[in-house]
Amino acid sequence: MCGIVGYIGKDNAKDVIIDGLKRLEYRGYDSAGIALIVDSEIFTYKKQGKIRNIEIELRKVPVYSNIGIGHTRWATHGKPDDINAHPHLDCTKKIALVHNGIVENYAELRRELQTKGHTFLSQTDTEVIVHLIEEELKTSPDFFTAFLSAVKRLQGSYAIAVITLHQPDTIFVARKDSPLVIGLGEGENFVASDVPAFLSYTNRVIFLDDFEVATVNSNSVSVFNTDGERVEKKVVTVPWSLSQAEKAGYKHFMLKEINEQPRAVADTISGNLSWFRGESYLEGIDPNSFSRIQIVACGTSYHAGLIAKFYLENFAKVPTEVDYASEYRYREPIVDENTLVISITQSGETADTLAAMRLAREKGAKLLTICNVIGSTATREADTVIYTYAGPEISVASTKAFTTQLTALFLFTLYLSRERRALASDEVDSYLKELLELPSKIEAFLNLEREKEVVKKIALEFYRAKDALYLGRHVNYPIALEGALKLKEISYIHAEGYPAGEMKHGPIALIDENIPVVVVATRGKVLDKIVSNVEEVKARKGRVIAVTNPSVKKIGELAEFLIEVPEVNEYLSPIVNVVPLQLFAYYIADFLGYDVDQPRNLAKSVTVE
Ligand code: G6P
Repeated sequence: MCGIVGYIGKDNAKDVIIDGLKRLEYRGYDSAGIALIVDSEIFTYKKQGKIRNIEIELRKVPVYSNIGIGHTRWATHGKPDDINAHPHLDCTKKIALVHNGIVENYAELRRELQTKGHTFLSQTDTEVIVHLIEEELKTSPDFFTAFLSAVKRLQGSYAIAVITLHQPDTIFVARKDSPLVIGLGEGENFVASDVPAFLSYTNRVIFLDDFEVATVNSNSVSVFNTDGERVEKKVVTVPWSLSQAEKAGYKHFMLKEINEQPRAVADTISGNLSWFRGESYLEGIDPNSFSRIQIVACGTSYHAGLIAKFYLENFAKVPTEVDYASEYRYREPIVDENTLVISITQSGETADTLAAMRLAREKGAKLLTICNVIGSTATREADTVIYTYAGPEISVASTKAFTTQLTALFLFTLYLSRERRALASDEVDSYLKELLELPSKIEAFLNLEREKEVVKKIALEFYRAKDALYLGRHVNYPIALEGALKLKEISYIHAEGYPAGEMKHGPIALIDENIPVVVVATRGKVLDKIVSNVEEVKARKGRVIAVTNPSVKKIGELAEFLIEVPEVNEYLSPIVNVVPLQLFAYYIADFLGYDVDQPRNLAKSVTVE
């Protein structure tokens, strides 16, 4: 939510920052802006809309600078216009600042600063920070001290980057509850909200922690706590390559990421198989030390949690609850030291998920996170981490993160089942074997041009629909939810996911000859039940699109459209079945001409509550 980029070094900061902002645009795209130090003045340019708006204009401006900061905004306080766009300047125009987060005490700070003569131009909470630094500077010996004093007065969440004419060779940064990373180059350094911003220059990274500030020069980086004491930081090498963060010939990141799933799932299996070879796994959590599991997550990751409940209860026999993180944190959950709380988060930065983790920690639970981003907040706060190896996911609508989360959760369940003797080791081996075959099954579907054409044809048939219903049962009920979410997110078509057996208690009233009803009907213990549900839809003239296996004959006579996917173990089937639903939503959004990778009002990383 909001992307920050800063650069200091030998290149033209303008180009490096624009390039970085484009790579962070998935974090927000209401407005964008840049500030540079040019000839002892601060040059700023900011504009409503996407980065390309400022890029086109800035290309025409012959500014050169080796230090600057930039921002892409997802509006919280103040509408998304040119004035509210970051960077913001102080009254003297000697300090420029970009911010991600929410300053909760901004109204009182603003009043206080106004009485001291500060004039505000925008409606943002951010602008108070830059005026606060200006005010603190009046009584501070140097800029750094003023910066620290200002930061200490902020309540809420912030990642901040500042440049100033008072110290023109330094970028000042601070962080609390919003991500900020520093990239280390040769004679140049970078700051950003996320690693892909500078991945074309370096993958050596320092992750700033909460209540840390840093000064970034072209040849050095120093990190301090808010009392100004030096903090030693680890330099982490992030194993992501630039090509993973580029479209590589695909029209959209989403399509690329859908197609990357066989590789991502395979990498997630091989990256997590150490326990199978008898090596240590899950440092810090004894698999026999808890009697219940609670899963917390948001969005697509929540749907992975719903499926994991089936895994954990069916195989490992551990009672499992699943909560939206935003609900969990306010519902007084019963948590104790016998509870394992699993957070599932692609980014590791979702504010609600982090808050739920912290609540569980306070109540004595052990924390495991399933996460895709090395060094992210969730990975640092959990007792132990299982990484998904999806690589950077850029499209706002999550695809490969979801299938790799399910893969990791299935593996974790097998590990737990073995350690808790809920499954015999030959059963574990046999499920593992099926899991190892999964990437080739997904690939088989993605390689079948005929099937992809079928999905495209169905998308063409329905892209003008106003509503859609998705039905599934058992382990594929959450896939109905996920299919509906994908469609909503990127095509703005109203869609509902429902357990097929529950349809008769409400949604059946919606069915007529116009509504597409997408049914997940692959082989499994509830197949006959779902076939009956499809009959009910047919009887009311609903137009049925079925995701099924070639061997399931009875659905063929009922459905108007069939999408055939390879048959796999029913517990693994969600990982295959979701792929055509991702493609279906993708093609519809593309036919409608929407911005698939950056749908309106959404952001990839939701770092505010
Ligand atoms: C946002 C994204 C979703 C994502 C959700 C949770 O809403 O648009 O794609 O599923 O956040 O994100 P997380 O990083 O915690 O998995």
